[in-house]
Amino acid sequence: TGTAPTFAVTQNPAPASAAERAHRMDSQPFGTVFTDHLAKATWTAEQGWHDHRIEPFGDLVLHPGATVLHYGQQVFEGLKAYRWADGSIHLFRPEANAARLATSAHRMALAPLPEADFMASVEALLTVDEQWVPSADETSLYLRPMLIGTEPCLGVRPSRTVEYVLLASPVGAYFPNGVKPVSIWVAQGYHRAGNGGTGQAKTAGNYAASLLPQQQATDHGCDQVLFLDAARDTYVEELGGMNVFAVRRDGTIWTPRVTGTILEGVTRSSVIELLRAEGREVVERDISITELRDGIADGAIQEAFACGTAAVVTPIARLVSPDHDVVVGDGGPGTVTMALRQRLTDIQYGRADDVMGWMR
Ligand code: COI
Repeated sequence: TGTAPTFAVTQNPAPASAAERAHRMDSQPFGTVFTDHLAKATWTAEQGWHDHRIEPFGDLVLHPGATVLHYGQQVFEGLKAYRWADGSIHLFRPEANAARLATSAHRMALAPLPEADFMASVEALLTVDEQWVPSADETSLYLRPMLIGTEPCLGVRPSRTVEYVLLASPVGAYFPNGVKPVSIWVAQGYHRAGNGGTGQAKTAGNYAASLLPQQQATDHGCDQVLFLDAARDTYVEELGGMNVFAVRRDGTIWTPRVTGTILEGVTRSSVIELLRAEGREVVERDISITELRDGIADGAIQEAFACGTAAVVTPIARLVSPDHDVVVGDGGPGTVTMALRQRLTDIQYGRADDVMGWMR
């Protein structure tokens, strides 16, 4: 994966004071507070990746013709840095995010960022913004790397210049109510991705396309939207920005299999590995919405949860559509779900041995 580049540091001349930092880190909505610096690198067809640097946090200067603005040539990642009780800072499986950023970049015809550059950018930003990694319970520094096409070109073709930008945001729980169970609205007439589309890539457009159906979820009093597959409008795919699991009475745990239209979540695969390591049977399969709804209604499915880097493991309490409204279990957080959440966060926050070898 190549040698690690050095990031040239330009310090922010006016970083937030300790008091201001503490104030801004105190229970703000997810992803609305940013640190003092950015990590950046530039790619050109002639020079490849170069000019790796840390800059004071600030606006981007983009040509109005940049391909990202017109044709959505963008990919991104989400990962977290955790502060352990001894003050040290740890990342959860960052190589997995580096690899997926490269896979997503390939799909969107963007120059992939080498893993060594990705890792070095994270380390460089954490070094200058170390004090922004919060220490309160269930908090972390959410890292958001992205690649954007910056070449001014209204012709539809890949940009010959690409900018890598890594921003960081101190966060608590993704949902405003914390770890309270969420309700799910089944998208009506909208799909997230089709066969051969960009569903497997972590790219801006997938999330833009989820916003209107997500608004409909909100209009129906639900927290998140659930998408069904585009080909048959039958099989459960994923939520607006997280994967989904069902815990069955027979002890097995089901999650939609990866088909090319579903994002292969790092938390998804970690959850599968953790459950299997505990001897649980995890089945990756097609799950029809009827199976899910009937299973919840008759108790064959006792728990359901959403998972993602941002959402961690969040219990699902209700599944709603125009023709059904079913409550999962007793509507409270399930025991398997909460034990899994605890198991995962114990590893992430260093409260348990990293037996899986995930922390860096
Ligand atoms: C994440 O879980 O990190 C995501 O990217 C989901 C969402 C915040 C876009």
